[in-house]
Amino acid sequence: MREYTFDQYRELVENHILDFLPDIDPKSITLYESMKYSLTAGGKRIRPVLVLAACDFCGGKIEEALPYACAIEYIHTYSLIHDDLPCMDDDDMRRGVPTNHKVYGEAVATLAGDGLQAAAFEAMNRDMLLYLDDSSALNRRARACYEICKGSGCRGIVAGQIADMEAEDKNCSREMLDYIHITKTAALIIAAVRAGAYLGNADSKTLEDLTMYAENLGLAFQICDDILDVIGEEAMLGKKTGADAANKKATYPSVVGLDESKQRLKELTNKAIDALSDYYDNAELFVKLAKILETRGK
Ligand code: IPE
Ligand code: IPE
Ligand code: MG
Ligand code: MG
Ligand code: MG
Repeated sequence: MREYTFDQYRELVENHILDFLPDIDPKSITLYESMKYSLTAGGKRIRPVLVLAACDFCGGKIEEALPYACAIEYIHTYSLIHDDLPCMDDDDMRRGVPTNHKVYGEAVATLAGDGLQAAAFEAMNRDMLLYLDDSSALNRRARACYEICKGSGCRGIVAGQIADMEAEDKNCSREMLDYIHITKTAALIIAAVRAGAYLGNADSKTLEDLTMYAENLGLAFQICDDILDVIGEEAMLGKKTGADAANKKATYPSVVGLDESKQRLKELTNKAIDALSDYYDNAELFVKLAKILETRGK
């Protein structure tokens, strides 16, 4: 086990983030440039780091998890490009720079998102094809890929984004609010951790405990994002604050108030950390990450 720090895993992701894109014909240079623009604009890289860290935690080789880590960041980045479009949240700034559509226009931004999503599945599939003769290696990869498909699609991000849109300017129940947050955000975080665990050949108890951690962390993550939209600083976040209120979004602060949101964030952080109580000696990165989130949303 390598047991890197968050920054060390993150550096690995930064160094390889473009490596798993398909070769693109020079005639499609605009597409490539627009995809690269959003991919290299920064970002905390939490999801790919979770893939690598979970794989490492379970005893796998982190280099083997890299295509899946980068693939999940391609999917996340596509979801942000689309989330910022005028027909969705209509945001001008992302990761400290103008949003993709502000630079390339709406049509190219839409296609850059489409291109990134397809590139993610191509990257994972290309990797799987290398292991056709090794059924156990292939099995681990197919399971990781399946987790990432599930977190991205009609039970994950896409479902959440529709529910998020439909809840604008309406009374939203707590149940619906959690549904939105779990699908649009927690699902991909759960996918990251479970994909990493499969790649590391986790036993069933470790997989279950890591899943419990990710479910709590994932919901906490979106609650923290909602809180920061109210109390955060634009320079630190790299995106506009106050956008949720302007769009009349159903968020934790708008539905239950700021104090209860912070309380819920704390509860979920504790639950996430408790889920890994059997592994405290090795789970430092996971515990730290949960605590950092809680502190950011305080
Ligand atoms: C932003 O995600 C969108 C949400 C799901 C809240 P991140 O906060 O991980 O954004 P980046 O990748 O660091 O830009
Ligand atoms: C977006 O949630 C979640 C995605 C699936 C992209 P938000 O709309 O709250 O994310 P930000 O605040 O724009 O980053
Ligand atoms: Mg949104
Ligand atoms: Mg948004
Ligand atoms: Mg937000």
